[in-house]
Amino acid sequence: MTNNDTTILILAAGKGTRMKSSLPKVLHEAAGMPLLGHVVEISKSVKPSGVVVVVAPTMGDVAGYANSLGEIVQTCIQNEPRGTGDAARAALDLVPHGAGTVVFFNGDTALMKPETITELCASCEAGAAVSVLGFEAADPTNYGRLVLNESGELVGIVEEKDASEEQRKYKLCNGGAMAISREYFHELLNSLNESPASGEFYITEVPELARARGLKCTIIVRPEEEVFGVDSRSDLAFAEKVLQKRLRSKFLANGVTLRDPKSIYFCADTLIGKDVVIEPNVVFGPGVSIGDDVTVKAFSHIEGTTIAAGCSVGPFARLRPGTQLGEGAKIGNFVETKKADIEAGAKVSHLTYIGDARVGKDANIGAGTITCNYDGFNKHFTDIGAGAFVGSNSSLVAPVKIGDGAYVGSGSVVTKDVAPDALAVTRAQQVEKSGWAARFRKAQVARKAKKD
Ligand code: UD1
Ligand code: MG
Repeated sequence: MTNNDTTILILAAGKGTRMKSSLPKVLHEAAGMPLLGHVVEISKSVKPSGVVVVVAPTMGDVAGYANSLGEIVQTCIQNEPRGTGDAARAALDLVPHGAGTVVFFNGDTALMKPETITELCASCEAGAAVSVLGFEAADPTNYGRLVLNESGELVGIVEEKDASEEQRKYKLCNGGAMAISREYFHELLNSLNESPASGEFYITEVPELARARGLKCTIIVRPEEEVFGVDSRSDLAFAEKVLQKRLRSKFLANGVTLRDPKSIYFCADTLIGKDVVIEPNVVFGPGVSIGDDVTVKAFSHIEGTTIAAGCSVGPFARLRPGTQLGEGAKIGNFVETKKADIEAGAKVSHLTYIGDARVGKDANIGAGTITCNYDGFNKHFTDIGAGAFVGSNSSLVAPVKIGDGAYVGSGSVVTKDVAPDALAVTRAQQVEKSGWAARFRKAQVARKAKKD
């Protein structure tokens, strides 16, 4: 699929007041990715010649995020929030004249599918000046209604507040995406009229303007779920539900076993190999990549982590950003890792914190081991060599190095480097008093008898 002559405009300068948030609407996340990220990903997948995101002057964070999404993405500023048409006009200079198509999206339509853009473009290539994405709304409240003539042609879009009693009953609504042939793009946008009621310019006026010039307007109709625009927190929850459903279906189709699909939450960027088993109640944050033949046991939380083939994780594991598991490594229950390089075959099986550390190949970390990486000001590194054995309940006070093949006796607090193949033990000597317990018990029983 290539659309080399397609420019995609993403309108993201609106305030999003219905979210009741200090965060711009398009930065709210679903499936671990801002809504704008979803829309840009969808856009990029049809290989357009450019993607332009329209932001407000106060939205430095939105522009910054958009610019981080690749060289193909440009941003431009709509100085005042004067409607979707005004937003589109802010991008006029970034849209080349001549052959091709311009496709608009609202930055909140995160559930759109790439095929839909391709189809909108195809309508324009087939001779339409304007092609609008429509859907049959279960509840059309707040959407623009598509007005068709007797022959089923699109004659205009009427917004809820301007709609007549009769028009409000229409179920066929504007899905917030539209393709316009570049040939007519600049002229049509420059002809938008200011709404007397609101002082805004609506992109939805374009079909009517095109018809007045004798140009052809068409619609393509998609299921509501795909066209859905996020305007409120409850819309965001719905988008999350749909995206999770799609991700689960994708992984099941790709050879991943999900023991209870509905209880497993993925990120839009999660990568999983073949023959991976994921038990119930697992949550994936951004930046997770999992190789083949891995088992992730119940109630684990994983983000920013790369897991090589044959590893076992959990139950109840928390793998935080910067964790890498080498082939066949094992992370057991109640283990937390952060910026940790756990090399092939290493085992961290129980109740442990490994942060800012390397655990060498085939090393074994005993239950309750803690890398003490933070002194209240700085983080320090712990380096555990290949084949090392750290006994249970040890504290490794960083910076510290445990040499290859070294042993740390259980219960040690290690503050100095340990040489390869050495044993370090820092616990107090054990003292044994023969018969003490028996004498103690006898004395206690005698005391109790005297009292009674
Ligand atoms: C819009 C459509 C409506 C359609 C619905 C589909 C218009 C006038 N209405 O309504 O027909 O059914 O989407 O979801 O287009 N924006 C700007 N600058 C502005 C105003 C908005 O960039 O001045 C951006 C917003 O950030 C948003 C998008 O445009 O991403 C749509 O704005 P929104 O307020 O969500 O429009 P709706 O009321 O949903
Ligand atoms: Mg909207």
